[in-house]
Amino acid sequence: MAVKFGRPLEARTHLAPVVTGAPADADRLDLAVRMRRNRRNDWTRRMVRENTLTTDDLIWPLFIMDGQNARSPVPSMPGVERLSVDQAVREAVRAAELKIPCLALFPYTDPKLRDETGSEALNADNLVCRTLRAIKKEVPDIGLLADVALDPFTSHGHDGLLKDGVILNDETVAVLVKQALVQAEAGCDIIAPSDMMDGRIGAIRKGLDAAGFTNVSIMSYAAKYASVFYGPFRDAVGSSKTLTGDKRSYQMDPANTDEAIREVALDVAEGADMLMVKPGLPYLDIIRRVKDTFAMPTYAYQVSGEYAMIQAAAQNGWLDGERAMWETLMAFKRAGADGMLTYFAPRVAQALKQG
Ligand code: PBG
Repeated sequence: MAVKFGRPLEARTHLAPVVTGAPADADRLDLAVRMRRNRRNDWTRRMVRENTLTTDDLIWPLFIMDGQNARSPVPSMPGVERLSVDQAVREAVRAAELKIPCLALFPYTDPKLRDETGSEALNADNLVCRTLRAIKKEVPDIGLLADVALDPFTSHGHDGLLKDGVILNDETVAVLVKQALVQAEAGCDIIAPSDMMDGRIGAIRKGLDAAGFTNVSIMSYAAKYASVFYGPFRDAVGSSKTLTGDKRSYQMDPANTDEAIREVALDVAEGADMLMVKPGLPYLDIIRRVKDTFAMPTYAYQVSGEYAMIQAAAQNGWLDGERAMWETLMAFKRAGADGMLTYFAPRVAQALKQG
């Protein structure tokens, strides 16, 4: 039996009777070990609990749109709204009060500003940059993360430059470096490349350093799968209607796991400070392998579709949404994640604050 971590079950002598023992005989039950003793009371359960979830684990993704004092609900993400810049600042104030360490910003770009090359991504006055500056001014102590990828800005909805149906790699990376610089200039603390082009982490690190942004971090979407669970996000940023084809030529095949290790190894070698696995719950095995292999700060993205499933079931009365939220987030900690991007962040932080 190939066992990578820990010894095989049979080799753990205290478990041997359980694994290999004779068939249970109800009359002769003589259990030296009773697992249920530790589960008897709330206090024993708390004593033996291996993992905890705290507000420090949370990164809160926000959707930004144009306008003043405006909010618009995302129908496929009940409870989530797109926010105008001033409203995003308001939420940043709330997040800081709740002690949420970091916000992730995603723009809904006016369709009129989207084009073939995603040129709005390089506009130093685009929505993301305006929001970065506005939040930094009002709430200087909260961390700000921004995606690097072209999909909110391209008319075809892809993360890179498209030519004759092919996503160009190196040409895209050159644009992504510029996008990262524009965002760093606007005050972004963590650049999060989500595009899955080859070589982008090294190129962005080099670009940032050359421009003096040696203190700007990179959280790499290192193992990002071509997933159906991004659907509601694409509604939120307005790219689902325009997306032509799929992203399988750059995002990973959900069937693969060794490939994730190779992707992560490259990003670590190229200078990533933190790693992300995405989506979250369907890929807990990847989180565990990445954490055990690289011992790096590792984050899960509980993506829009995971959030939508829980909210939809809860709205139908089919699941206790509150408990599903806690259980799924704890699953990320158990799998080895140091934290998670989750749309539940303010709800969790509020509940933790109230004890
Ligand atoms: C952009 C990006 C996506 C998500 C985060 N950054 C969508 C995609 O790759 O199509 C998904 C997040 C979510 O579903 O919550 N590249």
